[in-house]
Amino acid sequence: MAVSASIGRQIVDLNADWVFFRKNMPAARVFAAAAKDGEKVTIPHSSLLLPHHNFDEKSYQFVSWYRREFELPKTAEGRKKVFIEFDGVMLAAKVYVNGKLAGEHKGGYTPFAFDITSLARFGPGKGNRNVVAVQVDSRERPDIAPFGGTVDYLAFGGLYREARVVLTERAWIADAFPFATDVLSDGRTLRVKTTVAGDGAGGEFVVAATLLDSRGRKAARAEQAIEAPVKGEAHVELAVDGLEKVELWDIDRPTMYKVRVELLEGGKTVDAVEKPFGFREARFDKDGRFRLNGRVVKLIGLDRHQTYPYIGCAAPARLQRRDAEVLREELGLNIVRTSHYPQSVHFLDRCDELGLLVFEELPGWQHIGDAAWKANAIEQMKEMIVRDRHHPSIVLWGVRINESQDDHDFYVESNRVSRELDPTRQTGGVRCFRESEFLEDVFTFNEFSSNVREPNHVPYLITEFAGHTFPTKTFDRVERQIEHALLHTRIQDKQMGMPEIAGAIGWCAFDYNTHIDFGSGDRICYHGVSDIFRFPKFAAYLYMSQKDPAKQVVMELADFWARGDWNHCTKFLLIYSNCDEVLINGQLNGRAEPMRDEFPNLAHPPFRFDKMKDVWGHGWNDLELVGLIGGKVAIRKRWPADKLPSKLAAWTDSKVLDADGSDMTQLSFMMADRFGNVCPYATGAVTAKASGPVRIIGENPFALVGGRGALYVRSDGRKGAASIELTCTSGHKAQVKVKVG
Ligand code: GAL
Repeated sequence: MAVSASIGRQIVDLNADWVFFRKNMPAARVFAAAAKDGEKVTIPHSSLLLPHHNFDEKSYQFVSWYRREFELPKTAEGRKKVFIEFDGVMLAAKVYVNGKLAGEHKGGYTPFAFDITSLARFGPGKGNRNVVAVQVDSRERPDIAPFGGTVDYLAFGGLYREARVVLTERAWIADAFPFATDVLSDGRTLRVKTTVAGDGAGGEFVVAATLLDSRGRKAARAEQAIEAPVKGEAHVELAVDGLEKVELWDIDRPTMYKVRVELLEGGKTVDAVEKPFGFREARFDKDGRFRLNGRVVKLIGLDRHQTYPYIGCAAPARLQRRDAEVLREELGLNIVRTSHYPQSVHFLDRCDELGLLVFEELPGWQHIGDAAWKANAIEQMKEMIVRDRHHPSIVLWGVRINESQDDHDFYVESNRVSRELDPTRQTGGVRCFRESEFLEDVFTFNEFSSNVREPNHVPYLITEFAGHTFPTKTFDRVERQIEHALLHTRIQDKQMGMPEIAGAIGWCAFDYNTHIDFGSGDRICYHGVSDIFRFPKFAAYLYMSQKDPAKQVVMELADFWARGDWNHCTKFLLIYSNCDEVLINGQLNGRAEPMRDEFPNLAHPPFRFDKMKDVWGHGWNDLELVGLIGGKVAIRKRWPADKLPSKLAAWTDSKVLDADGSDMTQLSFMMADRFGNVCPYATGAVTAKASGPVRIIGENPFALVGGRGALYVRSDGRKGAASIELTCTSGHKAQVKVKVG
């Protein structure tokens, strides 16, 4: 047990060594149960592993139990406060400690903590061990937002985010909210609203706030005396100045700091918390523009669900961080909407680090329930804002249930609460009715008309488009995939040409699992510009190609280069590129034309080559595309005439894993042609066999989808080298290695 008796905050990690019971039973039976009666699990944990599609969404909607033991030091008895904290339990949790109910939480997307000081046992020895049992209700309960109506996504179930026990002194920091004022002037100030709680302490304390730069050096500091209450809370707002030299946080240069808040008694630190922080001014202005640090930034983004194949929402930090990297670095977006609920802090931390702006919203989808339901939704919204208001990446709070009807009193209240908890950020509320009551600061609208209409309010942000109007699979015929890409291209081009629109967020980044009432019947909504495994469709190329070529040269062919895959043979070639020119080599020899007339507003319109009829009736040869920048060759790619699968390519997103029993990385594989392009019509099943301290998660063997597939490699808790052999029924083989340490 990693707990010492020193002064200050101590943390007992609760992630490993849970026993999971896949059924409901009385609490007393869980306390009496032995480890062998359940399954040993590590969290993040999904209450049921599933295939990536074609499953019944009722299958994971049950009540289950998690049980774990932990020790606390004898020296803490009578001195320390003890809290148990959960970052997210889907959907409702009752937490029992040593046989007694410590508390209940309703809502799967936000953290909660219970004071278990009076229930805890201290000291070594079997009789002094603490037992925590969590009853997890993963049914779609109509009393808890977002449920009560139909919902187009799945919440899944389980103890799906991290948990811990926190020991503090009798006076502690209950909350710290850092924010900055006058950001754009040299007189900028860091303010830290701090809540100090007391239980049996009282007396003179000092609260200190220190700004630390990325290397941990002190940049500035302020302190203030506070009378800590014997019981209850006291509030203090610190002002740290002398910040002329701080660097601003921006999307291209996301400079991060840390704010360390300490509680001192007689010069000794008795508690401390740290929050990542960045200095920036973000505003949706009355002229419709979004400005970051005074500069207009046209927003271009996609919506993201936090769900993954097989594991539902139980993705560890590495996968969460990877999603932010896909959105910012691969797709080149500058904003993401966390549709339709608060998402993992690991995802948000990475958005901060990468300069990816975030629109985060409360949980809900079209349905509004009774008064108790609304109170629950507002409670979840409060938990979201308090958890996340230090993130520089978050620029807007969504305070309306996505696409719900007007509800004057409810939304007056949600706006009021949001502005009170965070006066520094504007509110939005996503709607699909243009006529709806506008109580927020930004009119956030889902534009499914396949057009972009003039805004009827300013500021105005498009928060969804495309989606169900054009579901597209990676294994759909090529013309449909091209049309899907052109739909995203048309909408983004049009909004780029309308300065009074702040930006457009498309539906959506990744295909996602959904209910019977939506999607393609196999429990997937194929609305992503990338598939459920995060493999890009052609529509992803539009976003990728808008990147600055100084950062990455992009040239992608929205085609599979097959002679007879279109109706009446290929009519044109569509190429997404940020090069100045694209040359076509091979039997065609020519130049693709930038589609500047059709898409006048994009930084990098796609290119089109129309002379395909010139090859009709001739042999089919290899294709080479050459991208030029400033007249020089910047990129070259080839597609073979012969589409026979040449190789099984396999890779993991990360070559290393932590040996914590829950870390994971995606293992991707695809059947490639001899130039390394996907063979979209390759079928066959790939079997992955792991040796070393890992487990394979997912459908194994996996039957290729659009020529590709993916599984997860998960740490089993031991250290060492792991090797995974992949074999396809076609006979192709591949191997990948991962170090777990
Ligand atoms: C919207 C909704 C999204 C998703 C989308 C599909 O109405 O807000 O959650 O269902 O439609 O296009």
